[in-house]
Amino acid sequence: MSSAQNQRVIELRQLLQKASYEYYVLDSPTLEDTVYDRFYRELQDLEAQYPELVTLDSPTQRVGEQPAAQFHTVEHRIPLYSLENAFDISELQQWQERWLRQAKTLQLDIENIWEPSRGKGSHNQNQLNPLSGSSTSEYVCELKIDGSALALTYEDGLLVRGVTRGDGTRGEDITQNVRTIRSIPLKLQGNFPPIVEVRGEAFLGLEVFAELNQQRQAIGEYQFANPRNAAAGTLRQLNAQAVAERRLDFFAYTLHLPEDGLNNPLNYTPPSSQWEALEFLQNLGFRVNPHRQRCADLNAVADYYQQWDSQRRDLAYMTDGVVVKLNSFSLQTQLGFTQKFPRWAIALKYPAEEAPSIVRAITIQVGRTGALTPVAELTPVALAGTTVSRATLHNSDRITELDLRVGDTVIVRKAGEIIPEVVRVLPELRPIDTQPFVMPDHCPACGSGVVKPLGEVVTRCINSSCPAIVQGSILHWSSRDAMDINGLGEKLVQQLVSQKLVESIADLYELTEEQLASLDRFGQKSASKLIAAIIASKSQSWARVLYGLGIRHVGSVNAKAIVQKFPHLDQLAAARISDIAGIYGIGEEIAQSTHTWFSLPTNKALMIRLGKLGLNLGSTEPVAVSPVSNTSITGKVFVITGTLPNRSRPEAKAMIEAQGGKVTDSVSKKTDYLVVGAEAGSKLTKAEGLGIPCLSEADLIALLQGEGE
Ligand code: IVH
Repeated sequence: MSSAQNQRVIELRQLLQKASYEYYVLDSPTLEDTVYDRFYRELQDLEAQYPELVTLDSPTQRVGEQPAAQFHTVEHRIPLYSLENAFDISELQQWQERWLRQAKTLQLDIENIWEPSRGKGSHNQNQLNPLSGSSTSEYVCELKIDGSALALTYEDGLLVRGVTRGDGTRGEDITQNVRTIRSIPLKLQGNFPPIVEVRGEAFLGLEVFAELNQQRQAIGEYQFANPRNAAAGTLRQLNAQAVAERRLDFFAYTLHLPEDGLNNPLNYTPPSSQWEALEFLQNLGFRVNPHRQRCADLNAVADYYQQWDSQRRDLAYMTDGVVVKLNSFSLQTQLGFTQKFPRWAIALKYPAEEAPSIVRAITIQVGRTGALTPVAELTPVALAGTTVSRATLHNSDRITELDLRVGDTVIVRKAGEIIPEVVRVLPELRPIDTQPFVMPDHCPACGSGVVKPLGEVVTRCINSSCPAIVQGSILHWSSRDAMDINGLGEKLVQQLVSQKLVESIADLYELTEEQLASLDRFGQKSASKLIAAIIASKSQSWARVLYGLGIRHVGSVNAKAIVQKFPHLDQLAAARISDIAGIYGIGEEIAQSTHTWFSLPTNKALMIRLGKLGLNLGSTEPVAVSPVSNTSITGKVFVITGTLPNRSRPEAKAMIEAQGGKVTDSVSKKTDYLVVGAEAGSKLTKAEGLGIPCLSEADLIALLQGEGE
């Protein structure tokens, strides 16, 4: 490696980091996607050629290759408190009164902060008038992002740990997943102390959330009730690749710096208020919510709350209230915490978006997987900015649990993009003569008997030629992430199925222009266009074909992982459950349903037919398969000593931990490797005495790259 190459790697990394920051944090891209991709590939190639140049903060290192076997619980260095809730301004006033009283008890010098109460001895909050304009007296209002809290630790400016909130004292170490969130910097910008702790909210944008639920519905997975659950579920996935595809985002809102911040050699000014902390976080390279505001008193807070209660529907993410914090850090420190909450902050929640309506009927929808979903048909009601006239009832167990009957008055809930649901029934408004709901014992679409296996909540139609199932399968097959056949919409598919022109996905490929042109409102031109699109779909990849088959639990990410291991249909069809479950990121349930699917005679016949029709069922040419696990690292114990030439010790430590290794401080018989840098001392002597293998930094990198096998 020449110094020119080293220089080029540094330049590329800086350029890509800057572009990514502008795109994901500032939301103002400066580099075209294609140009970014080219530089990214150049960096990837150089790093593959010279592995010693790879650093943990390289943009290529966001998604690690190794899935985690499980997450480890770790203790938070500083606990994560939650917030007390207020539901209206009067509760907020009570909170203000409480902290003021507390400040008085503590004999804080609040005369400087708040104008003394005029009504002698009165606790009437209206008389506690904050001095407007005084910077120590004010509040900072922030939006309350409805996601999942994360605690991030940076050592020497590098992200070394990302932990979930857990119970506030202990959380799960999900560093690998946190690294995939593009708006979280792998390396801090500007001046910072050696240790920085940042807290904030990881969340899913509403658009990403809606897309995710659509995909989940398509593969028969249950849908996430709200973006918060979706974000929490995503963060706990073991496969970082899948996390990266979910496009999580992050807003930072809390900063913890070491106490001795002032004696720092780097000469940064530590913030003395929440407002300054948010600015500090922004300067470190974090995404900080732009809708924060300083408010001189509770009237200003109330205005902020009212403004965002209506404007929140225009935001691309979900918020469930506003957070009000005392701005001054010195006041915060002095007031401290109760058992559960900080005294200096409170969440002012928005009223729940619920309204009463009447159930006119309960209808049944039959999905692609044959699941019968009961739906409440409601008297239309205005909710969360839209008119709601239907709400899902999920399954018959849920109806029994709600004790819901046609004619009942119910409370309906809808928030953001979430599917409306029935929350509860108001039994006092039930008309006389209502009957308990009974799930049909025949499929409303095809009339055949339905089944509800013992222990399952879902009732299913199992007639594979049921028009509702066929229709759903065809729509899934032609969807964007599967065969991407343009022009095959719901209405058209309905006609094709009801006229028995199409009874399986294979029939699509034998449709003629004449047949299509004979359909309602379908001209010759659109017919030939659609036929062309159907033919073109034959060249879609084997991974898309596999996803398009609609096997339960096999989403597009899983399908990609499966075809990597089984590049041809024949290999997959012959695989045992354990072979499929052995794939990185694929669980027992997915393996089981894939195996069952390929063993059914009707499905075998379908695959033979698809093959004859010229669909892409993979290739048996050998393809590079990524290593399943790096056994030289996972579970091994490392000690690092001395100064490494290219990276700091925390950085090396995090690289080892990212691949499942453990790093300890002292050498013992349990140590597997000693990583040795310049000026190593007694640890080296001890390791040599115990016969422990010693690695240079370059040896370590080779081992991490899997070359030590
Ligand atoms: S401050 C001690 N600020 O709301 C300070 N929290 O209900 C605690 N949240 O656990 C947090 N947006 O997950 C804070 N701007 C914001 C927030 C926020 C969302 C979440 C956070 C917290 C929960 C409390």
